[in-house]
Amino acid sequence: MSKDPQHEHNFDPAILEKLEQLQEKYAAMGQDLSSYLDGLLYADYRTYWDLIHLDTLLSLQRPQTPIPDEIVFIVYHQITELYFKLSLHEFERMAQEAHEHKGKVDGAFLLERVRRVNRYFEALTTSFDIMVDGMDPAEFMKFRMSLLPASGFQSAQYRMIEICATSLDRIVHHNLRDQYAGHNASDIPELMSHLYWREGAVELKSGAKTLTLKQFEKKYDEELEKLARSMFHSNVRALSTNIDGGASPELVDAMRWLDINVNVNWPLAHYKSAVRYLHKDPVDIAATGGTNWQKYLPPRFQKRIFFPELWSEQELAEWGKGWVEKEVFGRG
Ligand code: HEM
Repeated sequence: MSKDPQHEHNFDPAILEKLEQLQEKYAAMGQDLSSYLDGLLYADYRTYWDLIHLDTLLSLQRPQTPIPDEIVFIVYHQITELYFKLSLHEFERMAQEAHEHKGKVDGAFLLERVRRVNRYFEALTTSFDIMVDGMDPAEFMKFRMSLLPASGFQSAQYRMIEICATSLDRIVHHNLRDQYAGHNASDIPELMSHLYWREGAVELKSGAKTLTLKQFEKKYDEELEKLARSMFHSNVRALSTNIDGGASPELVDAMRWLDINVNVNWPLAHYKSAVRYLHKDPVDIAATGGTNWQKYLPPRFQKRIFFPELWSEQELAEWGKGWVEKEVFGRG
């Protein structure tokens, strides 16, 4: 009696079909499926710790002092940088999509990207109490001095997020914004030299650039200018004005939230931590390298606004004066 071949190897037809698909996949590249199956036979099972490189990740928290709370400060900065990285990932996807479709993206695609970035920033803003309330002020003052002149001010990813979100004229010093509106790509180097933060980290007494700023410029100026060039047509502001049928109300809403999240709520949460730990006397102010942070950090002074066209005159005038809650306008 002959055996039923199907029964003999006992393979689910779905598995056989997959094998056929795999064979096709490898044949298309001139590869032999059987060798790859050998590879599978001997490959180890994946583990969680290898997949996320856990040992490496957990080896990156290295305080510079023996003060216990320094680790809270270090880890929370790292967490923030990871959320910044996720945000940049979404901006890169947008730019890639635009690149592949003659500079245009679909409104729904853009909406999804912006909503994701909003979620990341909401997570950061709502967790900022880990900094504001979560460290002992006396310990903070001790270890902070040992970390000078390093500062979150030197977060290049934060600057990249701004460059990806809007046109460069929106993030130059506020006196120059009107003058540079509608600038050309050839003006990029000039605008780069006037980005608002170049006047942020200056010494209170002399007005000279701080070492914090000088070091940052040396390391990142070139890279940031390159990014600005590549984002000239594919920042969120540019892409949103180039959507067939215009931006939907949902997209407008999400963009308004992006403006609030990056330019009001996160800066206010962050400012609270500076006030908590540094707002004592001029000696303590020196803990930041002597910058004019009280005049620089509050969003109501800087009035950084990515999408001015989406706000009323009154909203623009009151920019940054207070926290913006979810209930104020639509869900981002
Ligand atoms: C207790 C916690 C914190 C304090 C007291 C603090 C303090 C300051 C101060 C005083 C400045 C002004 C520049 C300077 O003087 O160095 C600054 C800037 C900045 N910090 Fe922090 N910071 C804290 C936590 C963080 C965290 C967790 C991040 C996350 C990466 C961060 C990111 C930044 C950024 C991006 C700027 C530049 C802001 C801008 O240009 O508007 N900071 N910080």
